[in-house]
Amino acid sequence: MQADTSSIQHSARQVAIRVIENVLLEQGSLSTQLIRHQEDVSNEHIPLLKELCFGVCRHYPSLNSIALHLLAHPFEEKDTDLYAALLLGLYQLTYMNTPDHAAVNETVEACRLLKKDWATKLMNAVLRRYQREADEIVETLEAQPSIEFNMPKWLVKRFNKHWPEHFEQIIEASNTHPPMCIRVNEQRVSRETYKKSLMEQGIKSEAGEFSDSALYLEKAVRIGELPHFEDGFVSIQDEAAQLSAHILSPKAGEKLLDACAAPGGKTGHLLEKSDSIHLTAVELEPWRMEKIESNLERLGYSAHLICADAGDINNWWDGQPFDKILLDVPCSATGVIRRNPDIKINRKPADIDELVVIQREILNQVWTTLKPGGFMLYATCSLMPEENEQQIQHFLEHQADAKEVPLNSLAPEFALEWGIPVSHGRQLFPTLQGHDGFYYCLLHKS
Ligand SMILES: C[S@@+](CC[C@H](N)C(=O)[O-])C[C@H]1O[C@@H](n2cnc3c(N)ncnc32)[C@H](O)[C@@H]1O
Repeated sequence: MQADTSSIQHSARQVAIRVIENVLLEQGSLSTQLIRHQEDVSNEHIPLLKELCFGVCRHYPSLNSIALHLLAHPFEEKDTDLYAALLLGLYQLTYMNTPDHAAVNETVEACRLLKKDWATKLMNAVLRRYQREADEIVETLEAQPSIEFNMPKWLVKRFNKHWPEHFEQIIEASNTHPPMCIRVNEQRVSRETYKKSLMEQGIKSEAGEFSDSALYLEKAVRIGELPHFEDGFVSIQDEAAQLSAHILSPKAGEKLLDACAAPGGKTGHLLEKSDSIHLTAVELEPWRMEKIESNLERLGYSAHLICADAGDINNWWDGQPFDKILLDVPCSATGVIRRNPDIKINRKPADIDELVVIQREILNQVWTTLKPGGFMLYATCSLMPEENEQQIQHFLEHQADAKEVPLNSLAPEFALEWGIPVSHGRQLFPTLQGHDGFYYCLLHKS
């Protein structure tokens, strides 16, 4: 019995090495790698696989500094699998309850399974040294931003430069496990009634402060434990993301565009607000488009789905203008690092400049599909002013028919008590027990 469990867990570690190796080699994001590889472990070991992979990514800046300090020479790129194994070993020694000898032995064994027996001695020596000298090593390195803040240096610098007053909050909230927030489909059930059904299942929850459809669960649960999840009563969605549909406040008969739509979280919410709108959802990636389809199917709604580059309007737009547009552009996701901790590994400063150009192009093109008198909500889950207020500043300077309007212009009863006002729009920072980092600006076309 004992032997069985450890052999299956061992395979979770093997798979974790593959996932982390691929993330380090920039073969795809952590979430796509996990989707691809989680079938390689038995269902009961998926939580261990996730804990290992999320844990290594979440603590990557400090684990990486420690690993580089311990190694006389960094591993070559062809041995990234060994480096992934080392990071996993260090993670288990530092943050998990795995007995030290098991963490060391399994990492050494992993070298054999990777058919790199030559590395067993080295791995053993490095991990044993860390076991003995962890405190001294961390003390030697503690002045490095990677250890002090557990963030890449460039991100520490940017957060500090742009948001000195919110710096500590951003770092702390970005380094924690995010709370589990759900959105209640008010067309099916009220938030209060659903809260009671959760309570009957022993799941405690608290109402969100800003979105009247948000419930924070005291502890994360599996989706299958949420009553009527498959019947579309609730969706998993952060509270800040839920503000989009409240701000746009769709009304029956209106023609709406959700321009960068997958996985369809906000698409579904717009339809929950009014299922008599005419909603078009555009998404670039075919595999992500499938997620919108399954999300809408579960919720029982439909929309006109188009797989295309939203910025290439000649390719997808029929010339009929939209009353309202949600433009949730691809961004650096620096407001949701706690949900996508591989950002700490792979996001680079140059990505921000590239994203700004992509966002600008989509924004300019999609603007032309908006009706005069219509509204566009520009949204990102970024904390970078270049992608947010500066992007909008540039847009307003070049679009004579665009004007910024207050975020509650379409829903005057909606109190703007979240985030902080910035030169254009409002910036939300991630909070410890609450919402993610986000940015919103509402534009009106004259
Ligand atoms: C921030 S996510 C959108 C999240 C979504 N609104 C939701 O709430 O579930 C951005 C999406 O835009 C897509 N995307 C990126 N570039 C695009 C483009 N040029 N045209 C359309 N979609 C694009 C990405 O594949 C990604 O699914």
